[in-house]
Amino acid sequence: MSTSPCKYSTLAVHAGQYPDPLTGAVNVPVYLSSTFELTGIGTDRGWDYSRAGNPTRDRLEEALAALEGGTSAHAFTTGMAAISALVAMLRAGDHLICSKDVYAGTVRLFDRIVSGYGIEIEYVDTSNLEAVAAAIRPSTKLIHIETPSNPLMVLTDIAGVSQIAHARGIEVSVDNTFLSPVLQSPLALGADIVMHSTTKYLNGHSDGLGGALIGSTPEHKERFLLVQKAAGGVMSPFECFLVLRGIKTLPLRIKQHEENGRAVAEFLSTHPKVNKLAYPGLKSNPQYDLAVKQQKGFGSMMSFEVESREAAGRFLAAIKIFLSAESLGGVESLASHSATTTHGSVSEEVRASMGITQGRIRLSIGIEDKEDLIADLEQALAAV
Ligand SMILES: Cc1ncc(COP(=O)(O)O)c(C=O)c1O
Repeated sequence: MSTSPCKYSTLAVHAGQYPDPLTGAVNVPVYLSSTFELTGIGTDRGWDYSRAGNPTRDRLEEALAALEGGTSAHAFTTGMAAISALVAMLRAGDHLICSKDVYAGTVRLFDRIVSGYGIEIEYVDTSNLEAVAAAIRPSTKLIHIETPSNPLMVLTDIAGVSQIAHARGIEVSVDNTFLSPVLQSPLALGADIVMHSTTKYLNGHSDGLGGALIGSTPEHKERFLLVQKAAGGVMSPFECFLVLRGIKTLPLRIKQHEENGRAVAEFLSTHPKVNKLAYPGLKSNPQYDLAVKQQKGFGSMMSFEVESREAAGRFLAAIKIFLSAESLGGVESLASHSATTTHGSVSEEVRASMGITQGRIRLSIGIEDKEDLIADLEQALAAV
């Protein structure tokens, strides 16, 4: 079935998710087979070994490429495995620019593993285009940005960075995890590669880990297929099925996440115990215009500060509907203490340079009733 001229919600249900040619099954079958019968010496039916390719994974990759408008997609075991595959294309002596305020797991990977391969990593405030241009060296090969960033919701102008990078022959990759392909299309804005932790909104139910890279050129396809086959961190067929199932309701879920996110942000924006609310969907946010320009919505991630670590602890102990847990993008609302969860793996000094204090709490707003969520926050803030 061709889905090329279809609108987004139709793509989400049908791209890559056509009936099984063998049985007519409406859902993509889970091909739990590590190996496939060969038809002769050096010939097969399209698959020979699941690390190189699996029919269930193929369908997920087809769906992801369609949702991001890419030429190919490649599914990995986790978001971190996808970022590892992304930087596997770099060589000793290459220079990598990365957004300063990123998921700390990315910093851990870059500083403790990737830098050991002789790749130079530089963290830059990519929300400042002049700083990006100034950081470029002759050896710069890739600019990796996270927008909105985790947890401070700092935006980077994707089109602006792409323009600067392309003028110098440098590629741009975007971690699009926080908004999902429904609310932001980095490739259409000029980026070269999109990265996702499918663990979050794409799966949407907090029941599986996964990651993906979506490329925009035949070279990306060749390169990422090689990394899948050679390094082997591929998503399992069952996890692929869970993401395929999640994708069918992604536009619908995002609509509710988004509506709830706006309501919760408005409530928090006037609460006396809430400081430094980071949510680009408020007109008072300095990056509101950029959010409107490059995003199709504001998403449902936000963070704020209470006065101390102890106050954050009282808040997290008092929530009843929100769960105190790491991760994001699932149907359930989560709250997390940034300094000891997502950013627990970097030093206090690095956290301070990022602007993450001991009082910062990140919220992932789920799809429950928004009035219940606000009532829960209200009673928990009363305990602070
Ligand atoms: C923005 C972002 N990118 C990447 C990752 C890593 O994804 P995973 O946990 O699937 O490895 C995370 C995880 O929280 C994230 O928030």
